[in-house]
Amino acid sequence: MSDPALDADALRERALTTLTTARARTTLLTSCVDDPDLTAQHSPLMSPLVWDLAHIGNQEEQWLLRAVAGREAMRPEIDGLYDAFEHPRAARPSLPLLPPAEARTYAGEVRGRVLDLLEGAAFHGTRLTEAGFAFGMIAQHEQQHDETMLITHQLRTGPPALTAPDPDPVPLFTGPAEVLVPGGPFTMGTSTEPWALDNERPAHRREVAPYFIDTTPVTNGAYQAFIEDGGYDDARWWTPAGWAHIRQHTLRAPLFWHRDGRQWLRRRFGVTEPVPADEPVLHVCWYEADAYARWAGRRLPTEAEWEKAARHDPAGDRSRRYPWGDADPGPEHANLGQRHLRPASAGSYPQGESPLGVRQLIGDVWEWTASDFAPYPGFRAFPYKEYSEVFFGPGYKVLRGGAFAVDAVACRGTFRNWDHPIRRQIFSGFRTARSAADA
Ligand code: AVJ
Ligand code: FE
Repeated sequence: MSDPALDADALRERALTTLTTARARTTLLTSCVDDPDLTAQHSPLMSPLVWDLAHIGNQEEQWLLRAVAGREAMRPEIDGLYDAFEHPRAARPSLPLLPPAEARTYAGEVRGRVLDLLEGAAFHGTRLTEAGFAFGMIAQHEQQHDETMLITHQLRTGPPALTAPDPDPVPLFTGPAEVLVPGGPFTMGTSTEPWALDNERPAHRREVAPYFIDTTPVTNGAYQAFIEDGGYDDARWWTPAGWAHIRQHTLRAPLFWHRDGRQWLRRRFGVTEPVPADEPVLHVCWYEADAYARWAGRRLPTEAEWEKAARHDPAGDRSRRYPWGDADPGPEHANLGQRHLRPASAGSYPQGESPLGVRQLIGDVWEWTASDFAPYPGFRAFPYKEYSEVFFGPGYKVLRGGAFAVDAVACRGTFRNWDHPIRRQIFSGFRTARSAADA
């Protein structure tokens, strides 16, 4: 954005606030359990929490202290341990990792030096320093690992370690189930958002045919109807790969659900509770989302359809930063930042709705889209190929909009997440769409 308020002092303040917010969350997530829980592997899908902690510090050291400030490595011998590409997650517990106290001290020492650096930092000159990009990238990186650690907490068994107030109850949503998004071009991606990551760039025009999209994410109640209708036993609804996957792994419901007589229960951060019917469904893989949509006579939105619903302003030919406008997310707009440990009921956050009346595009649950993760025309990897470029291709589906576990600094109308279509330990849900031509 070409906002004059984004002068050096404002950028310094924003960098400080976002880094501090991230560290408070990291500290919470790594101090609410004891040392054996920090070094344990709670799932082969995840790193031990203590790996994430030192990796956060190591990335911060590499990008802010070494790349930006030109400092020498503080502990060159540990770089390899915390390189995500050198060791798969399942192998990380057997590495000679820094023990919890040392990992905390290391991350704390890096942060102390970064805060000194920030005092006199320049916010122009190179792409890394422009508008404080590297500080923003590192705040986002820490928040992304905080989300990863929250997933580890959800996978961990045993008594609850985290608590948070529930979202405010809302009246049952009685608005239309879907809205028509008119066809025509819109601007997808961004070339101006200062802290947008490489895969969100550059802004480009996209033509989209008219389509209908759900006004809220698909709820547990609606998903339960798919289950009760025998959805998991009917090959018609599944892609061949999805059908093979659910057969092989005998999947019959979202992850963390189990049946108790006639009732569905779910485990959520150490507490077992009845599945709430009005809440957006969570912990489904892409195959499940895709099958539900086909059963419902619909389909997943493409990534471009999702973004047009979230950013297009029908009153003017421009794309907004968020569904509600250009203002940064506030608590009135969206369920973000781990303020709650669950999505809010479908139809919540009327102040966050798009001009066409689509709700909860930002926050609550990540939304699977129909699209493979692919570069935009004119994409250039920055600052490293391993953030986005190495993941482009048909093996990953795009998720949009962020979840309750995502901080505002790492969530935008343009922000892109991706994962394998079988993954469901992530905070993933979906909404459905249909082409207007099929009406
Ligand atoms: C964008 C969430 C897929 O966690 O693998 C963290 C983010 N990249 N460290 C991931 C990331 C490097 C990434 N996702
Ligand atoms: Fe990382």
